[in-house]
Amino acid sequence: MVKKNNIVMLTAYDFGMAKILDESGVDIILVGDSLGNVVLGYENTLPVTVEDMIHHTKAVRRGIKKALLISDMPKKAFSNPISNAKKIMKEGGAQGLKIEGVRYLNIIKKLVKMKIPVMGHIGFTPQYIKEIGGYKIQGKSQNEKLKMIKEAKMLEDAGVFAIVIELTTEETAKEITAAVKIPTIGIGAGRFCNGQVVVTNDMLGLYEGHVPKFVKKYADLAPVIRAAVANFIKDVRIAPVAQ
Ligand code: KIV
Repeated sequence: MVKKNNIVMLTAYDFGMAKILDESGVDIILVGDSLGNVVLGYENTLPVTVEDMIHHTKAVRRGIKKALLISDMPKKAFSNPISNAKKIMKEGGAQGLKIEGVRYLNIIKKLVKMKIPVMGHIGFTPQYIKEIGGYKIQGKSQNEKLKMIKEAKMLEDAGVFAIVIELTTEETAKEITAAVKIPTIGIGAGRFCNGQVVVTNDMLGLYEGHVPKFVKKYADLAPVIRAAVANFIKDVRIAPVAQ
């Protein structure tokens, strides 16, 4: 089977951005739990709740006509994973769920059996940032690379339909991509994955918190917004006061 290549995936958290991405031809729109950082203002993704994910997935759902809508299972969802997965799918309107790591392989298998499409996510997994000890490149040594290849195969065997590979070397991502039949989607993982994903707010220069070094900025919107707001403030403050 020939794998689909050049898959374009971007994140969205609201109706307006989802509509723009969908109309631009993005293949997969992810309501990532990066929501926690870039929209809700938390330090990391850990405080994101199932209710947060449902609320934002519903908004994104309204903006999409063509793209595939995937939502993240936030860490908090794993207190009751099957019921929360069903809630995000049904109430949010997601068409599939992304699950970080291989800790919940049995849950992944159950969801796949229930016909819920699951996307895997290996390498740097932000929900385990505390265990990992920060934003560190994964799969650098031979042993770590083999471990990641093994994880990818375990996920493939569990039935995931694609795997996000985050923050690893180009060589490791290339070998993982060759080792599995399902598509890989890279983020900070080099050129040789079957697709690429990035946090939209990072690549548009909208988010001014921690932006990974590998992110290419396609726009620098924060200063554009600041200038527009400054002009609005000027107009309001110099405008004649209504009598
Ligand atoms: O939460 C997210 O936005 C993600 C992407 C970075 C892949 O998991």
